[in-house]
Amino acid sequence: MATRINPSILAADFANFESELFRIRSADLVHVDIMDNHFVPNLTFGLGMVERLQQVSPLPLDIHLMIDDPERWAPGYAEAGAYSVTFHAEATTEPVALARRLRQIGARAGIALKPGTDVTAYLDLLDEFDQVLVMTVEPGFGGQSFMEETMPKLSQLRSQVEKTGLDVWLQVDGGITAQTIEIAARAGADTFVAGSSVFGAENPAAQIGLLRERAAS
Ligand code: DX5
Ligand code: ZN
Repeated sequence: MATRINPSILAADFANFESELFRIRSADLVHVDIMDNHFVPNLTFGLGMVERLQQVSPLPLDIHLMIDDPERWAPGYAEAGAYSVTFHAEATTEPVALARRLRQIGARAGIALKPGTDVTAYLDLLDEFDQVLVMTVEPGFGGQSFMEETMPKLSQLRSQVEKTGLDVWLQVDGGITAQTIEIAARAGADTFVAGSSVFGAENPAAQIGLLRERAAS
């Protein structure tokens, strides 16, 4: 199974994104956390920033929308050229319609689940998505501890993906380190977001290599 390491620039130096992106060029995608101070109690960047990142990033962008009203905003990120756009299940009543719209524009469509959100309702809808993001912390902040109790959701998703043969990536986000990545990989994740463990490392490229190794072991 292919594994992907997606560093989150929430933990990068906000005054030097271009050089920060260069430091992580051995990763797979760049994870960009969009927060609106409504869906989560924190505020980060918006579409203008993503349009600019899209121009300078050597890697494709993996957009994680922690915002209300994703119907209004998500298509703009797809139009800006983002490789994947993931919105939260808790923020919409029409996840399938929104995913179809994103795919139509040309992005991979992702759906994210907060730690307390059950996965069952989405298991039969997997063909509508390219990625499911199982949050392993409460969304809103970097540097929190991995919640192992979310792992059963990954196991359920992994067996459904295997049963159906669909090409859906299973992503984890929050508290991913060289230790916790093994737990998430064993439970069935193949796509790993890591903020502080990559940008907090002395050598981010070496840390990406280590995470890759541990995910595959
Ligand atoms: C949290 C964000 C994460 C965050 C992860 O709401 O979605 O992407 O950057 O940060 P770490 O890896 O530090 O837990
Ligand atoms: Zn994220």
